[in-house]
Amino acid sequence: MNHTFRKIGVLTSGGDASGMNCVVRAVVRAALERGATPVAIEMGYKGLMENHMHEMGPRDVSNIINRGGTILYSDRCHEFNSPEGVKKAAAICRENEIDCIICAGGDGTFRGAKDLCGEGIPCIGVPTTIDNDIASTDFSIGFDTAVNTIIAMVDRLRDTCESHARCNVVEVMGRGCGDLALYAGLAVGASAIITKEIPFNEQELIDRIHQSKLEGKRNYIIIVSENMGSQFSEDLAKRLQSETGVETKFARLAHVQRGGSPTARDRILASEMGYRAVELLYEGRQDLVVCQRDDKITEMDIRFALTLDRFHKGKLTDDELAAIPAEELAQYQAISDQITARFNELYRINQIISI
Ligand code: F6P
Repeated sequence: MNHTFRKIGVLTSGGDASGMNCVVRAVVRAALERGATPVAIEMGYKGLMENHMHEMGPRDVSNIINRGGTILYSDRCHEFNSPEGVKKAAAICRENEIDCIICAGGDGTFRGAKDLCGEGIPCIGVPTTIDNDIASTDFSIGFDTAVNTIIAMVDRLRDTCESHARCNVVEVMGRGCGDLALYAGLAVGASAIITKEIPFNEQELIDRIHQSKLEGKRNYIIIVSENMGSQFSEDLAKRLQSETGVETKFARLAHVQRGGSPTARDRILASEMGYRAVELLYEGRQDLVVCQRDDKITEMDIRFALTLDRFHKGKLTDDELAAIPAEELAQYQAISDQITARFNELYRINQIISI
């Protein structure tokens, strides 16, 4: 059965990420090609609740493929978090003939999409966050651009550390997981990658610095994930200086990691995922998140994806775990183990080749 839609909404929610505009562009152009009217919903779910929306034509998404941030803006919306708020949002969709919505964001965005599905508004989630902390996809849109931004910043720090025989502790983002620290750390040849997923032995790091200094090493880059806590990295820089005698500087890259023109990888991933989201709707499918698994664009049930994410992050309560059928639990465990194994392998490699 062919599905038709009058208007297809698109919104971006949560922390912005480079590549979000590529998603919007792909959704708008794919919807127009199918004969639907794309509707831009501004400021995430807040714009839906407050009717900040407008129809989009092909030229409205011109010249944005190379722009960071999101032309649809993003905001937080507490009203939408309540059942009444979701019902109100669904009513607003119906009043505006918005038959379905494509929601680009992280796990919080997917929770909102699931709730809207429950009120009869088909939704498809597209994973966009620099953190890469969405278990249903190998990579989220925005992650590659953020990693490359960190690389560009840290390569510069390495230059000056080499000139002055210094150490630089660099704190990177990643409230939910240490992927930014891990991938950027490996890519810059960090002497150490410190993130909550891996037990950290400070004395071992001090000994490594002492030993490599004796062997003639002059510069030391230490990448620390913000998930180690708000003061950890700055305090570590002071301790390393006092314990090793190497002059140690500190840099917090903060929101620099969120902006910038998306990389080719993020542009292509975003275009594929945005297009696939529209295709899924026309296949009559909903309540899904688009994901990339083993280099293929595929999809996952949104409830399964959300539970998987909470399972992997250890956020499910004992009661919730007990209520999951054994076969489903085994699926969560298998995917979670794959993610952990990959993380640990990259970390292990860096420990060996980065001395
Ligand atoms: O989730 C993306 C992210 O950049 C995190 O890495 C970071 O901790 C958080 O958002 C910062 O949130 P905000 O932009 O609200 O300060």
